[in-house]
Amino acid sequence: MTSPDTVPHHIAIVMDGNGRWASKRFLPRIVGHKQGVDSLRRCVKACADRGVRVLTVFAFSSENWNRPAEEVSGLMDLFAIALTREVPQLKADGVQLHFVGERAGLSTKVAAGIEQAEFATASNSRLILNVCFNYGGRWDIVQAAAKLAAQGGAVTEHDMSGAMALAHVPDPDLVIRTGGEQRISNFLLWQSAYSEFYFSDKLWPEFDEAALDLAITAFSQRERRFGKTSGQLAVQTDSLAGA
Ligand code: IPE
Ligand code: IPE
Ligand code: MG
Repeated sequence: MTSPDTVPHHIAIVMDGNGRWASKRFLPRIVGHKQGVDSLRRCVKACADRGVRVLTVFAFSSENWNRPAEEVSGLMDLFAIALTREVPQLKADGVQLHFVGERAGLSTKVAAGIEQAEFATASNSRLILNVCFNYGGRWDIVQAAAKLAAQGGAVTEHDMSGAMALAHVPDPDLVIRTGGEQRISNFLLWQSAYSEFYFSDKLWPEFDEAALDLAITAFSQRERRFGKTSGQLAVQTDSLAGA
């Protein structure tokens, strides 16, 4: 177990590897996605138990529409079912749900489920769970830029951050990608500017509490310099300790 001061405030996860998990077992890919929902449920609980305050997960990318129609419709159905099934427990566990991504293009059933889930959990505060669905980092940058352009005037980085879809939370401290690939696949392009990255070879359905603890421990051993030098950070730590 890690001590509370080494736990990242905000963890973001590219939940990758569901399809390979299923294929390895000669099962249809959708079975892997179902296991992925179970893994997410476990991960949400584990994050809340460890004191993580924000968890952002990549569930369906802007590019995932290009998958075979059968897989896309299976994912949409699974998403709608999971919304109905999981929300009561998430509500009871103090989880505040947000769905991040382009809503246009989603079925009325999925869109209504999203609205109900957000409404039902709005007053919770133990853990914020952002589910990126029909999301792309480039989409987010473009929609923020369009919003600011419509307002007119000069644009600062602060304005951009405020116009992005994740403006309600600080940037992720740790970005985890499971499934062995080491790429960002259009996830939090703007917000991960200074995140620590951690890649796990575990397929998402296999990513358990022990795997999460390994990621958090790795994070706790990183030195985040934000452009400064190690020497400067040591001086800062000393003056904080002396204050
Ligand atoms: C991630 O698992 C879930 C989604 C993209 C919806 P994949 O479906 O990408 O699984 P692999 O990468 O093919 O194993
Ligand atoms: C990223 O995984 C998207 C999600 C996990 C939802 P992909 O499986 O779509 O990424 P690529 O295609 O391997 O880059
Ligand atoms: Mg994948």
